[in-house]
Amino acid sequence: MSAAETDIAAEVSASIKRWQKRRGSMVMMLHAIQERSGYVPREYALELARQTGNPLARIYEVLTFYNYFKLKSPGKVVVSVCTGTACHLKGASELVASFSESLKIAEGETDEAGDFHLQSVRCVGCCGLAPAVVINGKTYGKLKTTQVSGIVARWREKLAEEEEHPEKKGAPVHV
Ligand code: FES
Repeated sequence: MSAAETDIAAEVSASIKRWQKRRGSMVMMLHAIQERSGYVPREYALELARQTGNPLARIYEVLTFYNYFKLKSPGKVVVSVCTGTACHLKGASELVASFSESLKIAEGETDEAGDFHLQSVRCVGCCGLAPAVVINGKTYGKLKTTQVSGIVARWREKLAEEEEHPEKKGAPVHV
């Protein structure tokens, strides 16, 4: 199993543990995945099917029933700023403003090139790290507005690298 697959398995497992005893647990699990990634990637749906023993078709039935779920990434890089209570208290709205300024898009928008999408999401499950931001599945905890432009610059570099060397797609970002 690759590191990325291990991360997906661990995330899906945590979401199952959190929601499995609740009514409508499948919707809640899918909701948690979308909150982190900005959409529900197929690899996550596959892993959810594997771990819950549900057929993949059943999961896609749920996904397509609700308009809320997105099956495609709204941008190559999805920046999800957590605005749940803990993060809100630690300055999440300043982070949204900072990312918005750095990316030159408003919250909820994708830039013209389709590179970056900025969204605010509810609790991403790591309140101890508030304020938290998740970018393409990578969590940034205790983030300060002064770090935002450096992070955006690094992700821009990564997109440029991937354009030049497509084999590097999905490689971890070090920032
Ligand atoms: S409120 Fe932001 S991680 Fe929980």
